[in-house]
Amino acid sequence: MSEVQAIILVGGEGTRLRPLTYGTPKPMVPIAGVPFLARSMERLYEAGITDVILAAGYMPKAITDYFGDGSTLGMHVTYAIEETPLGTAGALKNVEEHVHGPFFVFNGDILTSLDLPAMIEHHKRKGGVGMLHLIEVPDPSAFGCVVHDADGAISAFIEKPPPGTAPGNDINAGTYLLEREVLDAIPAGRPVSIERETFPQLIASGKKLYAHVTGDYWIDLGRPENYLAAHRDVLAGIMPLLVEPGVTGEGAAELRDRRGIIAPVHLDAGTTIDPTAKVGPNVVLGRGCCVEAGAVVRESVLWDDVLVGPQATVEEAILASGVRVGKGAKVGAGSVVGHGYVVANGARVEPGSKLSDHQK
Ligand code: GDD
Ligand code: MG
Repeated sequence: MSEVQAIILVGGEGTRLRPLTYGTPKPMVPIAGVPFLARSMERLYEAGITDVILAAGYMPKAITDYFGDGSTLGMHVTYAIEETPLGTAGALKNVEEHVHGPFFVFNGDILTSLDLPAMIEHHKRKGGVGMLHLIEVPDPSAFGCVVHDADGAISAFIEKPPPGTAPGNDINAGTYLLEREVLDAIPAGRPVSIERETFPQLIASGKKLYAHVTGDYWIDLGRPENYLAAHRDVLAGIMPLLVEPGVTGEGAAELRDRRGIIAPVHLDAGTTIDPTAKVGPNVVLGRGCCVEAGAVVRESVLWDDVLVGPQATVEEAILASGVRVGKGAKVGAGSVVGHGYVVANGARVEPGSKLSDHQK
């Protein structure tokens, strides 16, 4: 068993990524063709952390089917499926029996280059019941604002402070390294938020939590604009994920020198692009995508089996698997189109539209 275990919180409904998350749970949303959670697991493996507990709830089958017992990754994966969401601390209490010592907790929607072994070292040096990864942002109001002194000791944790009221700019970056005794502070049998209850209570009771502030690459993927921004950064090599800048991917071989393809672009296997189409920059095409004559795809992420019809335009959009964009249709900036949706021939999709066939 690995020394430090990991619990990944993957139970959220991903409401801000709808309609993508009607068909795919947030952790399985692909980053350049690979489910985001698989990328996170690779990072853990590289850091020597192989004992992983996935605290899931929303659409768990997509997760359990993909990872199984983890053995294909050289890891040991345990699942805890919540019938009703237990909250970010309740989810930890719920897996108490599987936790044997200090453990990492990861929000399941963070893409970061954080050095995990360095954080373990820092925690060992500082002591205390836990260490929180923090980063500095201009506006903490969408995050957990964390106040700490020069020694790193945390004195306040304020989740989602109203705009303009935050006492500082360091925020909770969604990775914690906690001692097992933190679980004693979480009540069982009801939903508990680690941000709104557990951290403030630990601080109030005099338990020591320390800050691990870094300038790492960091982004919360839970919003469409961030999802696109993360892809731009991955394609540019700013967030290293083995995607080199250029025209990459299994589908890139014959298309690399094509004039209409503007790097950086990532093309998965089975992609076809008409010689008169324009694709890129900052485009990801999933497996089996097809871009037809005269079509234009820019600054967009298309999942698997997406068809972009002749003379259609797709800009700054996210299209889930199986989407069909009809002949001459225009999909405007910031649009998100759900699984299998058909954009009619000649249709004008207004910027920022959310389109899907999902019935509530
Ligand atoms: N198992 C389980 N059960 N997981 C949950 C539950 C639950 O009831 N609720 C949320 N999660 C998971 C989500 O799937 C996500 O991976 C993570 O917990 C955080 O939830 P979000 O809904 O994404 O929270 P947020 O982005 O608004 O805020 C959190 O992340 C910020 C950093 O991005 C907080 O931790 C903030 O303090 C933090 O700054
Ligand atoms: Mg989030």
